Amino acid sequence: MSFKSISPEIQRHIPIIGDISNKSDLAYLTTRLATQTVNMVQMGVAEAYINGLEVPDDVLRSLFDTCMPVFFKHFPSLLAPYEWVLQETEQMAEGSKELMRLQYDLPQHMLNHMLGNGNLIYPKYSMGLWEKGADNLEQSQVDMIDDIIEKLDIQDGDNILDFGCGWGCVANYILSKFPNVRFTGLNLSHEQCDYMRQKMQDPKSYLSSGRFILIEGDLNDTQFEEKFDKIMSIGVFCHIGNLTQSFKKLASFLKLNGKFFLHIITVRTPNNISSAYTHKYIFPHGRYWSFDTVPRHNQDLKTIQRWYLNGTNYSQTFAAWLKNFDESYNEIEDLDYGIEFARFRRIWRFYLIWFVANFASCDGEINGNGQFLMVHTER
Ligand SMILES: C[S@@+](CC[C@H](N)C(=O)[O-])C[C@H]1O[C@@H](n2cnc3c(N)ncnc32)[C@H](O)[C@@H]1O
Repeated sequence: MSFKSISPEIQRHIPIIGDISNKSDLAYLTTRLATQTVNMVQMGVAEAYINGLEVPDDVLRSLFDTCMPVFFKHFPSLLAPYEWVLQETEQMAEGSKELMRLQYDLPQHMLNHMLGNGNLIYPKYSMGLWEKGADNLEQSQVDMIDDIIEKLDIQDGDNILDFGCGWGCVANYILSKFPNVRFTGLNLSHEQCDYMRQKMQDPKSYLSSGRFILIEGDLNDTQFEEKFDKIMSIGVFCHIGNLTQSFKKLASFLKLNGKFFLHIITVRTPNNISSAYTHKYIFPHGRYWSFDTVPRHNQDLKTIQRWYLNGTNYSQTFAAWLKNFDESYNEIEDLDYGIEFARFRRIWRFYLIWFVANFASCDGEINGNGQFLMVHTER
């Protein structure tokens, strides 16, 4: 018998199963205690691995393949390791400085190798679209950006803001297709901004066309005088703790009837999820918003369309990144990670292998990517 056949009123009193936002006080507390046990077990396994326990990839992968569908389908509340994962928090962008240190300002040579660094497709740290037949990472990213161009209905002449623009990959590609589009890229990562500053001096790059403006800064502190026709944000909102405030701020950057295209990792579970492991080692304060939660928070931006992209697309992307990472050791092992490379390599392999499995579990139907097209209307 699946717990779904139990009435919500009875489920309310049973810990662990189903929707944690609808629990009696006792069931809620018991669920949170159970979650702490899951956190401890997860960290125990992860830290044994990163401290040198020899576990073949296949064994690690089958551990994830076995556990994750059970959590996703039956016990999603156990995937919310901290209270803050379940609700909006005070800050718009969460723990930005720590996030840059631990993740985005890592040696760029390593990230560029892993993500791919082509002439037109610069490193892109978000899902590629494989379901249209791409047979390599670069093509999957081209297909993904083409999909965004279509859904956001980009027109030549648009003035676009890319919040969390990474290495300028999407901007470079779109500028190459539309001779009159203008882009502003906002990014807090100093190292990624340095990459773009170099491209802005390189005549072969569309970032040097005079149609690209770079702002190195944090969404929390940024203001713009001008209003944009369109805003996009791809793969960034897992670092956002307060959707309501962030949507309000982004709406204030948009012309009336301007559009915002949000592309995020999402879960089709009742609650948001995260993990103690990624919080400590990979994405501090990162959380994956539930697909149905996002539109509930847009008072200033109205969601007019949304799409769920199957997680197998992201599983394939992570598999390509893992392969690139593994094949680049000779190039990257001497870089400064602040810890010895052997340990860094294990921390990252645990993350990459886990995410390959996560997005493939439940045939990609629960953990995937969400796209939300929103419009700035008068209240
Ligand atoms: C996962 S990457 C995605 C990059 C890019 N959109 C892409 O698709 O390749 C997230 C990006 O958001 C940036 N970012 C994270 N928090 C930010 C903040 N508070 N303000 C500005 N940029 C931020 C990171 O530096 C990084 O470039």
